[in-house]
Amino acid sequence: MPRLVVNRGVDSIQIAPGSPELRVLQVTDLHLASFGLIDRFCLRAVRDLATKWGAHLVACTGDLFGLRTVDAMERSARLFDGIVGKVAPWTFSWGNHDQELRRPGPDPAGQLDAVEAYLARLPGCLYVQGRRYMEAYRGPPVTDDPWERDAAAPEHWDGFHGGNYLVEVMNEKGTKVAWNVFILNSRRAYHLPTKVLNWMADRAGSDRRVPCICFYHVPNHEYHVIWERGLARGIKREGVCFERDRGRVHQALKAMGNIKACFVGHDHVNDYHGVLDGIDYVYGRKTCLGGYGSYKKVPKQLEAGGKAIRVGGKLITLSLGGDDPSANRFSHVTVFADGTTWQP
Ligand SMILES: [Fe+2]
Repeated sequence: MPRLVVNRGVDSIQIAPGSPELRVLQVTDLHLASFGLIDRFCLRAVRDLATKWGAHLVACTGDLFGLRTVDAMERSARLFDGIVGKVAPWTFSWGNHDQELRRPGPDPAGQLDAVEAYLARLPGCLYVQGRRYMEAYRGPPVTDDPWERDAAAPEHWDGFHGGNYLVEVMNEKGTKVAWNVFILNSRRAYHLPTKVLNWMADRAGSDRRVPCICFYHVPNHEYHVIWERGLARGIKREGVCFERDRGRVHQALKAMGNIKACFVGHDHVNDYHGVLDGIDYVYGRKTCLGGYGSYKKVPKQLEAGGKAIRVGGKLITLSLGGDDPSANRFSHVTVFADGTTWQP
């Protein structure tokens, strides 16, 4: 595995690929079984996809863990790191299921803290533990913010502020930041916390010439909007599960001014994208056979145009250019294990 990391901060990791472009393979919704043999089969497929497409980095956008005890999550993360992490470093965006603890104790956030700490210690995982940092960030205390108060209510248990950090990608010479890559926790129903949006605005705003992309699990409302308005191209075989979001996240991202694209998962059988207010909202391609909707599992449904899709990944290429980061560009394409591609 190439050594990319040059710096670590309280909320960020800086990487220097030393190449004119960075290829990121997004994999999503693996829904590991938590049985060694089946999970090894899936993770070897991810490893082979990363190798075939020459990925410098693998971005896992959540719903990874099959069994959500702290021990089982750590085992799965270790397996991911031992197989995929051997060929490329990886990031992890929490999915909604990943946060549904099987045996929540009196301090469920503390249990997820333990998983965060474990991820941060894995040699191949680019991860920053940060719940307390985000909870202390600028913004109204959770108890004064009706949105967050509701999210954190025991009946919702959607208040986890961990899983949000920034990967700064240096230009080819390693002299300047070429891209900001935000790894975010969209939780289940309440999407990004207010304080996390404030933190993003500060980080993205520190140099607006630096373009930004985001990886998170649950689509925001605009994934629905772009399809309804005819702005999107690609495959849509199920409704967009934007949960409670109705534009709050988009308004914040738009105001930052330099968010170029977002990449999500969650809805397994959708793979489309469209641009709204300068932001390219992109679905990833479901990876591996776990959960519903994989092609190999239900070919009859696919033939009928139903709830199934051929599994693969999304390859995102970022140009790392020279001295002016605002000149950097990106592209994305769906990729498969047999070497073929599909462009939405
Ligand atoms: Fe999900």
